[in-house]
This record gives sequence, structure tokens and C-alpha cells, in this order.
Amino acid sequence: SITPVILCGGSGTRLWPLSRKSFPKQFVPLVGEKSLLQLTLERVAGLGGRVITVAAEDHRFMVADTLRLAKLQGTVILEPVARNTAAAMALAALHAKPEEFLLFCPADHHIPDAAAFQRTMREGLTAAANGMVVTFGVVPSFPSTAYGYIRQGALRPDGSLQVAQFIEKPDAARAQQLLLQGDTLWNAGIFLAQARFLIEALEQHAPDILASCQAAIAKSQTEQPENAAGVSFVRPDRAAFEGCRSQSIDYAVMEKHADVVVLPFRGQWSDVGSWNAVADLAKPDAQDNRVQGQGWTHKARNTFIHAPHRPVVALGTNDLLIIDTPDAVLVAQRDSAEQVKDVVALLEQAN
Ligand code: GDD
Ligand code: MG
Repeated sequence: SITPVILCGGSGTRLWPLSRKSFPKQFVPLVGEKSLLQLTLERVAGLGGRVITVAAEDHRFMVADTLRLAKLQGTVILEPVARNTAAAMALAALHAKPEEFLLFCPADHHIPDAAAFQRTMREGLTAAANGMVVTFGVVPSFPSTAYGYIRQGALRPDGSLQVAQFIEKPDAARAQQLLLQGDTLWNAGIFLAQARFLIEALEQHAPDILASCQAAIAKSQTEQPENAAGVSFVRPDRAAFEGCRSQSIDYAVMEKHADVVVLPFRGQWSDVGSWNAVADLAKPDAQDNRVQGQGWTHKARNTFIHAPHRPVVALGTNDLLIIDTPDAVLVAQRDSAEQVKDVVALLEQAN
């Protein structure tokens, strides 16, 4: 069976003002009424094993509540500080049994076809049993600089494709080039590996991160919170984990490791990474306007309104994003959506 490991520690600042440090996007109902985390948990529930979630200490109650809503039990590894995905994945791999098949899933992706998702994940088991780290590839549609790119190599007997090269977040020129080459896929950010082989890969390419996490897990403490039946909190040692280097698994392992393979994933996939990506999930009208909640457009074009709480009207606007929340409003040009995170950084400095 497969043990899903939900990576739930991101802060999602590109979706400000809906996504906040105290309430990041994975906990927000962005598509329909359920949060992305709940939808993620429901998507992996059928895969069998227990669920491990890796999240920030501050978010423990939101995670426990969401596990309850999804009718799941499991272990929540609570990070005292954020040290990016290499460390988060190392903690889970060290906590698990060496033979366990771990499926690392971002908590904040939109993948509506759960059956197709589970089918593709299971197809990776043979390669994972052979010691491979299995990645999942999505056909790219534009030269994004926010994704990892995978150059496909030879077809292997286990049905997967060798990864000829893994390029994390290329610059715009390189992204354009990779797209035109035609043999590349976007890295979906989902990884399948047997715990022991992921640990071996970390040992090879990021031994310092592995060592910090080993110390943190060796001195970890477990709590069974009273009001969260079937959920246990594992707290890695703070001092050991604080000393860990912060790097994503993509730079730390995937770009360097030889034993990485890819399986194409053909279902709908979105990492809901910016307001444009959220807008794309809503139905357009004839002028390409999209609304969530009480948004109204008149003589507008390509305008997106997110207005869950009160009426918001856009009149005669072009190419705008309008995001209304009870205590903050964002108005942005469609093509500035990626820069929302820069503004959030400036706001933080100012406060
Ligand atoms: N527990 C924990 N701790 N989770 C984390 C941490 C952390 O310190 N940092 C990030 N995460 C979680 C995020 O919540 C998200 O679910 C997932 O790990 C990936 O992190 P992102 O920060 O969202 O990565 P990215 O979007 O920039 O890039 C990754 O995903 C792309 C696809 O969406 C890379 O893997 C790219 O190669 C890939 O294309
Ligand atoms: Mg992401």
C-alpha cells in the first residue's frame, strides 16, 4: 500500500489577501466549499495506508480539524520552523518504516479526477520498488518560470520514463527553449519513493539536511491530543531542526539524482499558484469575465472578481483581478499576478 505524505507548510503569499501567514491557501476554500487540504486528503484516502501530514506547529488545529472533516486519522509531523521541502520530506521518510512507499503530495493543488490520480500514482509502484524516485509530469502549456521542467529520456521496462534532466524554475529564456524542444513536462510537485531510497538520495546529495533531520526525529516527542481522535502529533526536536539548511527537494535532490523517473499525468492539474490560476478554474462568460461569489461585471473584459462576502461590481474594466476580503482588497492587472508576493513582502516590511 501507499502512505500519502501531505506537504502542508507553504505560505502561499501570491494569493494574498485571501491567503495569510496565519491562514495559508491550503486551508482556504478556494474551489467550492472545501479547502484544498480537505480535497487533497479525500483524493489520497483511497490509496490505502495511513496518512502523514507535515505542517507548521501553528497550524496543528486546522490540520487536525481538516483530517476530521475528511474522516481520516493519521500522524501530523509539526515543524517548529519552516525549512522547505527537502527537510519536510526527510522528516517524513525518517519517521516512516524504511520499506514504506511514500507519496508526497502538495496540500494546495487542484486535481479534480481522483480516480485518474490514484491510477497514475499506483503505476509508479514498480519503479519505486526498484529504487527510483518517481515524479509525475504534466504537459506544459506556456513558458512558466514557476515550475520544474523534466526532459524525458528512454522508456523503461517498468513503464516509466527515465528523467534525462530536471531543471527547477528556469529563467524566461530557458523556459521558452524547453517548451519549444517538445520533450519536456512540468514537474507536478508530486513524488513517490520508498522511504529508504529517498533517504539514500538525501545521504548522497544533501547529507547535512539528512543529518539535521535524523537528530530532530531521534529526539522527537509524540502527543495524542484529547479532542482529536486518531490523530497524533509528532514534534521533531526544535534545536536540531532549526539548524537545518532550507532548500527545496527539487534543488537538493531532483536536479542531481540519477535514479529519477517520470510518469505523465494526463488528468486536469493546477497548482493554484496565483490569482490567474484561481480565475482559470471559474467559468468564463462570453467576454472572458469570471466571478466567484457576489461579483458582477458590466461591459468588462477578462476581469476576475472574488467576492464571497458582499457585492463587488466591475464596470468597463479590462484584464483585472479584483479580490475582496473582509479586511483587505487587491486590485491588480492580470499580468501582474505573479508579483503579488513581492507586494506582500513590502507590506510586511512596512508593518
Ligand atoms: N511541511 C512543509 N514545510 N511543507 C512545505 C514547506 C515546508 O517548509 N515548504 C513548502 N511546503 C509545501 C507547500 O505547501 C506545497 O504544498 C509544496 O510543499 C510545494 O512547495 P511550493 O513552495 O509550493 O513549491 P513550488 O510551487 O514553488 O514548486 C514546486 O512545485 C511545482 C508544482 O507546483 C516544485 O516541485 C516545482 O518543481 C513544481 O513544478
Ligand atoms: Mg506550489
